Parts: sequence; structure tokens; C-alpha cells
Amino acid sequence: MAALLEMRGMVKTYGSLRANDGVDLDVFAGEIVGLLGENGSGKSTLMKLLFGMTEPDAGGIVFKGRELSGHRPREAMAAGIVMIHQHFMLVEAMTVLENIMLGWEEAGKLLRRGTIADRIREASERLGLDLDPDVRVADLPLGRRQRIEILKAVLRDADLLILDEPTSNLAPSEINELLNILRRLRSEGKGIVFITHKMPEVIEVCDRVVVLRAGKVAGKAGIAGADKASLAAMMVGRDVTAPLSVEPKAAGAVRLDIRALKAQDLGPLDLRLRGGEILGIAGVDGNGQLELAETLAGLRPVESGAITLDGAEITHATAARRTEAGLAYMPADRSTTALVKSMTIAENLMLRDSHRQPFSKGGLLDREATRKEARSLMERFDIRAPSEQTLAGSLSGGNQQKIVIARELARQPAVLVAHQPTWGLDPGATRFVLERMIALRDAGSAVIYISSELEEVLAVGDRIAVLAGGRIAGLVSRAEVDMTRIGLWMSERAA
Ligand SMILES: Nc1ncnc2c1ncn2[C@@H]1O[C@H](COP(=O)(O)OP(=O)(O)O)[C@@H](O)[C@H]1O
Ligand SMILES: [Mg+2]
Repeated sequence: MAALLEMRGMVKTYGSLRANDGVDLDVFAGEIVGLLGENGSGKSTLMKLLFGMTEPDAGGIVFKGRELSGHRPREAMAAGIVMIHQHFMLVEAMTVLENIMLGWEEAGKLLRRGTIADRIREASERLGLDLDPDVRVADLPLGRRQRIEILKAVLRDADLLILDEPTSNLAPSEINELLNILRRLRSEGKGIVFITHKMPEVIEVCDRVVVLRAGKVAGKAGIAGADKASLAAMMVGRDVTAPLSVEPKAAGAVRLDIRALKAQDLGPLDLRLRGGEILGIAGVDGNGQLELAETLAGLRPVESGAITLDGAEITHATAARRTEAGLAYMPADRSTTALVKSMTIAENLMLRDSHRQPFSKGGLLDREATRKEARSLMERFDIRAPSEQTLAGSLSGGNQQKIVIARELARQPAVLVAHQPTWGLDPGATRFVLERMIALRDAGSAVIYISSELEEVLAVGDRIAVLAGGRIAGLVSRAEVDMTRIGLWMSERAA
């Protein structure tokens, strides 16, 4: 049987960077191919070449037996290829039906509104999409909006669907539903390219995987017999599942002292952290994690209690004052609060320091000093980009997070509050983040590591606390961890 899609020797360069360096990819009808690779390995680039969003420097594409070249997304769609975007291109004020009709040439002419509505109901039923044509997009949760994109593809009889990290913003139940939808699409004979970092999803739904590393195919495997560790090793070319070196240094003086702290939906809570220690905070999302992180960072008002940093009270200090006092903060949502995507790497790295020597000369930014410092941070924190003048928004998630880490850690903060710092990162980048947390601890800082990934909290925390209903349900040293107790604490709800 001929492949539905054959990509051969695809090359795409950006300046001196070879984002795709001779990549081959085949997809057959009725299969799900997992496209894996670390952030920045070239997965999205390959899909953009396929979908005609950018032109290759070399290589050839054959789709359904016909050569596809010099095409744009419109031609790709006409040929039967659909890309489900990470950020959906939907008009929120319009209904599902109206969004489906947008930009669909036959709709409204050859196809009447009522006919399309019937088809939406039928396909929604058949594939388990649970979409009503007359509901406004604004009233739908994220997971359901994504299915409108899938529905569009199905109604237009696409043969190949590209899903680029479709699960990164979904709740666990929505992920399960999406995987079921993909299985149904497969059974209807669609070819699917599924990009994700999450190994359990890959193992659950893919028929085989193709792994990219630094723009080249690093390996291919059928899913039978593949396991999480072997796939992760193929992605990074080294073992990222080996235990972290986490023997704690003797803990030093108290650096962060939280007493009877109360804020909206948080507390009262008491915590004391010493230099040279990581306090891992586990718990189910939505149990005060964001409240704790933002209250410590100075972004939410304190109702009562006290926060002391290195002996100085900062309970009601502004965020800027806290930074001055030695507090660093990595928010969970780096895309909107930690990083300015329209600014360069260098500008993002200097966000907190631009008013200081040696970067400021008489109130003006010293551009050369700024750039030099940026280049040195890029080297130290392994930020991979063409130059320090590259826009932060054009980088992969892992590299964006490395900018935030470089900025927050380079100044050796007394205390770091990290909230979900590995969100959306691949195994290699996740490992990098965890190693940096440990290095910071070993240099004498105190770290609060808040994450709903229990595995990570247990891997880095010298002590582990569980947040439930905005309060500390329990706290143990790592040596005393008992999973049953942790599970019970996690399910506790403060009255
Ligand atoms: N428009 C662009 N300009 C410059 N560099 C880019 C551009 N798009 C991607 N890159 C670079 O190409 C490499 C591959 O990126 P990408 O395909 O997005 O990786 P992935 O999807 O695997 O995370 C990265 O180093 C990225 O920074
Ligand atoms: Mg990508």
C-alpha cells in the first residue's frame, strides 16, 4: 500500500540554524504517527513545511500520489491536509456553525446552513465531539473549542490531520476524550500526525513514533514494546530518567519565614525555609497554589500574618521591593506574565535589571553591555536561538522557559518561588529545570517548588508539603514520604 504522505529530505534553515536537516516522514491512512522531540528539535517546522506555511530549502512532498510543492495552506487544505492549531483561530462571539462556515467556500452557496448544521450534529455524534452547532464559542471550554477545528477538518473530508501539541492546555478528562476522538478518526481511515511531549499519551494512542533531535530523525519505532524511558532517551540522546543528585546540603539560616499568613482563598499557613533547602509543594491544581505563589510574589494582598525574607519583613511590600530584597518568582503562565513575546531575548533577560549598573548609564540603557550580558546568559543557560536579538515569542517553549530561569536565577536570589516551572516542557528541558533548582539550592538559596506533578515534587523536594483547600494538609521530609498519606492529604478539603 502506498503511503498517504511521503516527505523526503526536508531541509529548512533559519540563518545558520538548521531547523530541519534532511527529515523523512511517511504517514499511512488509518494510522496515528507520534512525532516526538525536545523543544526546538524541529517538529513544528516540519509540519509548517507540510502545511505550506513556510517554504523548504530542499526536499519533496508527495501526498496521495501527487507532488505538493510551492503550496500555501489553502492548497494544502484543498488537497486534504488540515492543521489543528495550538491557538485556535475561532471567532468567540460566533456560534460553532458560523465558525465552521467561515472561510469555507461551498458553505452558504452549494451547502445550505441547515444542511451544515445537520452534518455537524451527525459528525459530532459519530466521533463523540459533543458539539452543538448553535452554541457560541465564547461559552465553550478550551477542549471543546479544539474539537471545532477537528470538526472543520472532518466536514471538509480531510485525509490527514496534523495536531501540534493539542493536549498541552487540556484538563486530564479532556485529554482522554481527545485521545478517543483520535482513535475514532483513525478507524475512519484518517492519517494523523500527533505531536506531544507526554509519553503516556504517545504509548496509549500512537501506532508508531518518529523522533527528531536537532532537526534530524534520531529514531523510529513501533509502539509495541516501546516504553517511556526508551522514548525519552531517544529524544534527548541521554538518560533523563536517572535519579537526580539530591542529597541536601546542611540547611543554613532561615531565609523565608511565613507566619499565620492569610489571603483570599489561602491559609492561614505557617512555613519556614532555610537556605540550602527545597520545599516541594504538591497538591491537586486549584487548591491554593496560584494564591500562594502570587501572595509570596507580592501580586495579591495579604489579609493577615507576616512574611519575612532574610530577617526583613516584606508582608505588604510591592513586587519590585521583594525583588530588591532577594525574591525571585517563576510564574506558571510564562507566556503572559513572565515573558514579553514581542521583545528580544536580551530585553527579556534585562527586564528586572535594566535600572541597575552596569546596564544603565545615567538613566539610559547601555546597549552593548546589555547584549554582552545576554550572550553570556544564553551560553550559561543553554538558550538556543540565532542571536540575543531574536524575539522571545519565536522560540520553543523550553527555550522561553530558559530565558525566565536565566533572568531569575542569575542574580542568586535568597528565595525562589517556582510555580509549575516545567509546564509544557519536554523531558530534556524538564530535567534542565530540575537540575537548576537543585544547583540553586546547593548555592544556598531557599526554593519553594509548587507543582501538580507529584513525581517532580518528590524528585526535588527535601521536604514535601501538600496544599489542599488553601492550607497545608501535611508536611514531611523526603525520607518519611508515604504515598498513601500524601494521597490522603491531597484529597483533604479544608472546611
Ligand atoms: N521563524 C523562525 N525564525 C527563526 N528561528 C526559528 C523560527 N521558527 C523556528 N525556529 C527555530 O527552529 C528550531 C526548531 O523549532 P520548532 O520547529 O518550532 O521546534 P519544535 O516544534 O520541535 O519545538 C528552534 O531552534 C527554533 O528556535
Ligand atoms: Mg513546536
